[in-house]
Amino acid sequence: MTGESSNGEELLRRLNTAVPHPARVYDVWLGGKDNYPADRAAAAAGLEAFPSTIHSVRANRGFLARAVEYLAAEEGIRQFLDIGTGLPSANNTHEVAQATAAESRVVYVDNDPVVMLHAQALLTSAAPGVTDYIEEDLRDPRRILEEAHRTLDFSQPVAIMLIAILHFISDDEHPYEIVNSLMDAVPPGSFLVLSHLASDIYREELAAFARDFNERSSEKVTLRDHDEVARFFTGLDLMEPGVVQVSQWRPRSELEAASPNAVWGGVGRKTA
Ligand SMILES: C[S@@+](CC[C@H](N)C(=O)[O-])C[C@H]1O[C@@H](n2cnc3c(N)ncnc32)[C@H](O)[C@@H]1O
Repeated sequence: MTGESSNGEELLRRLNTAVPHPARVYDVWLGGKDNYPADRAAAAAGLEAFPSTIHSVRANRGFLARAVEYLAAEEGIRQFLDIGTGLPSANNTHEVAQATAAESRVVYVDNDPVVMLHAQALLTSAAPGVTDYIEEDLRDPRRILEEAHRTLDFSQPVAIMLIAILHFISDDEHPYEIVNSLMDAVPPGSFLVLSHLASDIYREELAAFARDFNERSSEKVTLRDHDEVARFFTGLDLMEPGVVQVSQWRPRSELEAASPNAVWGGVGRKTA
């Protein structure tokens, strides 16, 4: 077997299109084209269990854009480590940050090779902005930090972004320790931006949604309640309005605020 074909087989094995992958299922809900039949079946089942899934996904993307704009425009943040990037969509982190400050540096991290292939092609910035990509798993924050040093200056503030990813880390995989080790690596003045699927909003629908997803996918979902999500911000200063439904985090319009969704989100600043 040649090195090239064994690499191709290894990529196909890792893509594993026969089972749904979070990024590709999410892409279906966002109206994207980078998904396979198993992803589309999981997306349809998710919609059946929780009909407001698409509103939730859009509200989550709105939160991402508003939080990045707030950090770039009002807090002067110029470095973003966006872990769990997802497939390129509208208002990606570097686009929002660089619209305010063209010199913003963004490192994207995802463990799905499909995401990384698309990210390298589409999530590019023009100088003086910089984007970089790391194919790595959130369960190994040390490796992520090592590689991020290529592009980010850890003596200056960094926004660590964990948007709709921590629910893929089970309690056994130590999600709080992972967040702490990321925040320990950045200086005071840095931020944590986080959103997470809720166990205590649309309780029954979300339980059915998670049950179905976990039967189909190798990546399991762990729903968490408001207190469990707020605990990720322990030791940080929570920006107003705190940990809220993502539609309620500084909405720009009544329409945005009214979007049904089952996602908690917040932004916290490291002060010491
Ligand atoms: C629901 S999507 C969210 C995408 C984007 N952050 C957003 O909110 O629009 C979750 C992303 O996290 C990635 N992901 C899931 N578990 C991961 C892990 N353990 N390490 C790295 N990426 C992961 C998936 O591949 C997917 O791209």
